[in-house]
Amino acid sequence: MDVKLFGVVGGGTMGNGIAHAAAASGLRVLLCEVDQALCDKALRTIDKNLQRGVDKGKMSPDQKAEILGRIRTTTRPEDMAGADIVVEAVVENFEVKKGVFQKLDAVLAPAALLASNTSSISITKLAACTKRPGKVIGMHFMNPVPVMQLVEVIRGIATDDEVLQEVMSLAKAMGKTPVEVNDYPGFVSNRVLMPMINEAIYCLMEGVGTPEAIDTVMKLGMNHPMGPLTLADLIGLDTCLFILNVLHEGLGDPKYRPCPLLVKMVDAGFLGRKTGRGFYKY
Ligand code: CAA
Repeated sequence: MDVKLFGVVGGGTMGNGIAHAAAASGLRVLLCEVDQALCDKALRTIDKNLQRGVDKGKMSPDQKAEILGRIRTTTRPEDMAGADIVVEAVVENFEVKKGVFQKLDAVLAPAALLASNTSSISITKLAACTKRPGKVIGMHFMNPVPVMQLVEVIRGIATDDEVLQEVMSLAKAMGKTPVEVNDYPGFVSNRVLMPMINEAIYCLMEGVGTPEAIDTVMKLGMNHPMGPLTLADLIGLDTCLFILNVLHEGLGDPKYRPCPLLVKMVDAGFLGRKTGRGFYKY
């Protein structure tokens, strides 16, 4: 697939990271947010993250400017009409994503692909809301997107074989390593990750160890780059709870029930780094 324009809808943590990674790989990017202030905020974050590379001598200021120059922003989804693929990275809410998919389905060329960065919502169900189910696929990037190698490529029940191959090639062209998985709750990444995070929260609730002790055991004992509670704070505790509920409801197995302490933290508004307090204070 020759991608002349790569669309991204949503400029939050994942959306701006995806736009950053796409532009850094040479693609022309159009990023859509609901208002100009959010467009500007996404661009400021990309600028700041690119500056890390400049400060470390890994990129020249000119290279940074070139990458930024490949990213345009808009507040009008209709402007995505010329995109060859659009990756949706809006809030993890089915109704909101459905609205975005239907709007994009109406404006995109028939051959264009629609991808979702969802961490747990069914690709099959999103595809069924459009008139192009064969061209709908999951492209699940990991946080922080510019750094993490993996893209979990999720094929819905209706995804065309050639669409899967095109997206696998595109992810490789972006410098990532794509892994193909099928559409079941939590896919592979969160089906395996979230029970570990949930168990770490049970350990904390039952007083098996302090947050520092639990995280240190997993960091030094299992060679994880961050402990599970630090990682939960990075992902967002509301997101962790949402995904655990998807696993619990979708698979119907009590082993996925969210830890009551996680529910309590979310009720309190302690959502992790983004609110300044989660299992740690920031
Ligand atoms: N943008 C660009 N570069 C970034 C960045 C960002 N947002 N965050 C970190 N970096 C860069 C740093 O500049 C640094 O670059 P160099 O190697 O060139 O020096 C590199 O990443 C490492 O960063 P740091 O030295 O600051 O810190 P670190 O070595 O502790 O690594 C980390 C930070 C990469 C986040 C590492 O701790 C890590 O891999 N953690 C686990 C992350 C993880 O598991 N992510 C998946 C979450 S689950 C998910 O996303 C999916 C879901 O559905 C919930």
